Amino acid sequence: MNKVKKSLGRLPGDLSKEELVARIIRVDQAGEYGAKRIYEGQLSVLGGTKDEALIREMAEQEQVHLETFDKLMVERRVRPTVLAPLWHLAGFALGAGTALLGREAAMACTVAVEEVIEEHYLQQATQLATEDEPELLAAIEHFLNDEVEHKKTALDEGAEQALGYPLLSVAVKSGSRLAIWLSERI
Ligand SMILES: [Fe+2]
Ligand SMILES: [Fe+2]
Repeated sequence: MNKVKKSLGRLPGDLSKEELVARIIRVDQAGEYGAKRIYEGQLSVLGGTKDEALIREMAEQEQVHLETFDKLMVERRVRPTVLAPLWHLAGFALGAGTALLGREAAMACTVAVEEVIEEHYLQQATQLATEDEPELLAAIEHFLNDEVEHKKTALDEGAEQALGYPLLSVAVKSGSRLAIWLSERI
């Protein structure tokens, strides 16, 4: 009965549950890989400074996020995005590039990325609320909390003091949103 009700709730043109879940796992695995690469880029510049421990701590959480989606990808037989090489290069370049502008710019990059991920995970949690996917939903909700913490940490570390903060923030957010949009689809 419940199943019938759920399927009736789907509008024409909506993704099937399988498509929705595959899309979520594909883009989240890519995004978490990108996050890991951003922190690696930051560490390539800020390693050995007072910021290293903090960045490493966030990078280790991204590693856990990534491993979770790697595992789900294998279990659910979801193919990775064809844009994986882009996330590899662009993630690192974004992390290293902003860190070269200064530690506050690196933190500003983290804030911008995490804001995009936060809205992205919230949207997914809403989509999954009516599906029977407790494991995936729990992972997303857990990681959402971690990303909000990363954002707070980066704000506490002076992100908003970065030179050209508003422009930098808009640029990073636009790029992140585009990469997410594409990775859901290809
Ligand atoms: Fe993450
Ligand atoms: Fe994060």
